[in-house]
Amino acid sequence: MTILRSALYMPGINQKAMDKALTLDCDAVILDLEDAVSALKKDDARQLVKRQIENNDYGPKEVVVRVNDLNTKWGESDVAAVANAHIQAILVPKVSEIRDINRMVELLDAYGSELPVWIMVETPLAIINVNELACQPRVSTLVMGTSDLVTDLGAEHIEDRHNISYALQRSIMAARAFGKLILDGVHLDFRDLDSFHNICRLGRSMGFDGKTLIHPDQILVANQAFSPSEAELEKAKRLIDAWRSAQAQGSGVVELEGSLVESLHVEEAKRLLDFFSEVADRAD
Ligand code: COA
Ligand code: MG
Repeated sequence: MTILRSALYMPGINQKAMDKALTLDCDAVILDLEDAVSALKKDDARQLVKRQIENNDYGPKEVVVRVNDLNTKWGESDVAAVANAHIQAILVPKVSEIRDINRMVELLDAYGSELPVWIMVETPLAIINVNELACQPRVSTLVMGTSDLVTDLGAEHIEDRHNISYALQRSIMAARAFGKLILDGVHLDFRDLDSFHNICRLGRSMGFDGKTLIHPDQILVANQAFSPSEAELEKAKRLIDAWRSAQAQGSGVVELEGSLVESLHVEEAKRLLDFFSEVADRAD
């Protein structure tokens, strides 16, 4: 089971941040060569990231490199540098059409690389085409790029995000329809952890698997928000017990605390318990 509650971005030019991330408790690190690195530092960052991956072990964390768009002069060199590196995925920015994914896959194939592809969903055209993008077999994870999206829409950042809820829900729908993971966009106001908690809860209630982050202080909040709570775990155990005793008595109908229990609730309860034991194993 791939768990991606918290995926922390860091600039590929920031050696201190990349070292610090070795000890952080996030589920994924995203070493960024794109927006977080200025045009003047692109070549230095590429070398730094390559060396960082070669010389370090990030343990159970997924390591992902966000390369520059293949339409820029840096994109192909970025892919060449990491195609065969010990990472779990390559994150492709500004994906809008299937051909953007095909181009990346062809390039990876040319290097004999089988890396899964994560795609940024951050343009209006990507939202329109998201079904076709999500169903591409090489794509494992969708990552919302809400900062770019809000800018391209000519919209504003609003706390309850109702102005982009169509885009978020449409993308979640596509991810779920094709069995892909999907991560929510970043919360720029990284010093305000109360508003961050609310945004994470909102994201989880919509169906996101986790959140992309920009600062270590956000990790714990995201990990908690995207994990089952104690109360949810206890309820899942009671539900499975109630279901089993009803089955043993030959009864097809089960009631728990005033609600009808259906087999789909039992499946969901088992999924929560599996998720919890996977997270607990990782923490050991
Ligand atoms: N990843 C790993 N470590 C990070 C980090 C990150 N994204 N952001 C901060 N840190 C580290 C700092 O190096 C510092 O380490 P130390 O305790 O060993 O000194 C510690 O966390 C505290 O950092 P702080 O001083 O609070 O913040 P800062 O001023 O160093 O950095 C930002 C603030 C916003 C510049 C920084 O968090 C950042 O670059 N974030 C990522 C931006 C990014 O990748 N954007 C692209 C995607 S949107
Ligand atoms: Mg972007």
